Amino acid sequence: MKVPADAKTNITDTVSAAARPGMVYLIGAGPGDPELMTVKGLRYLRSADVVLYDRLINPALLQEARPEATLIYVGKGPGCHTMAQDEINTILVSQAQQGLTVARLKGGDPFVFGRGGEEALALVEAHIPYEIIPGITSAIAVPAYAGIPVTHRDYTTSFTVVTGHKGRSASPTVNWEALAALDGTLVVLMGVKALPDVTQRLIAGGMDPTTPAAVIQEGTTPQQRVVTAPLAEIAAKAAAADFSTPALTVIGSVVSVGEALAWYQQSQIASEG
Ligand SMILES: C[S@@+](CC[C@H](N)C(=O)[O-])C[C@H]1O[C@@H](n2cnc3c(N)ncnc32)[C@H](O)[C@@H]1O
Repeated sequence: MKVPADAKTNITDTVSAAARPGMVYLIGAGPGDPELMTVKGLRYLRSADVVLYDRLINPALLQEARPEATLIYVGKGPGCHTMAQDEINTILVSQAQQGLTVARLKGGDPFVFGRGGEEALALVEAHIPYEIIPGITSAIAVPAYAGIPVTHRDYTTSFTVVTGHKGRSASPTVNWEALAALDGTLVVLMGVKALPDVTQRLIAGGMDPTTPAAVIQEGTTPQQRVVTAPLAEIAAKAAAADFSTPALTVIGSVVSVGEALAWYQQSQIASEG
């Protein structure tokens, strides 16, 4: 067999590539609609050797990976933690240490309740090069697909994104009473189960019980469902309609705009008809 003249160079290249750490891209995959992913995120996803992906990313995006790429599911469901965060960090580091290009696909934006900060810090500690590719967060896009602008000059001057999930005992807790006093839009992620408690605390903190509220499930996808009610009734209404994760709650006068701007539901109905 004829040995190519550049065989030695090829071997050297292979050895040094393995010794050199690869690269990790922490990519926001957007809120559900696969077209709501950035051009940059898609470019890196298409170039990756390994793709680590979460439960909330649209599976259609995985078809964008190279056919020879290794796909690793590291999703966590509510109450069923498939893989501990430390384990995910270890996989990211070990794949990159083999000289591979890793796309870490996370729902929405990696830094909005996405533990992207924890993963990036683990990469820094292991001296792995990385980049953050922000994504379109569900906190803004899901209300938008229900026609709800998180700000509107006639209604509010602020919006706050908050978790409804209690989290670890060492984590900071949410001061619902203080949020009630803000009089801005509140977007509550991960809070469907806690909704009765959250709404009671907001009302106890002085929020008007008639404040418009909406729960949106599987926003930006054809399965999107929206329920609206005054704050005092939203928890019971969402429970009666059997709303479940992934869902978020929007509370504030901007919710009333959603009725006039329900563009996505209308486009879905039109495409079904
Ligand atoms: C762990 S947080 C991750 C948030 C994500 N990093 C982001 O920026 O959208 C998951 C929560 O986001 C919300 N969420 C994500 N996608 C959603 C969707 N398509 N519809 C409604 N809520 C969604 C839900 O509250 C869900 O429990």
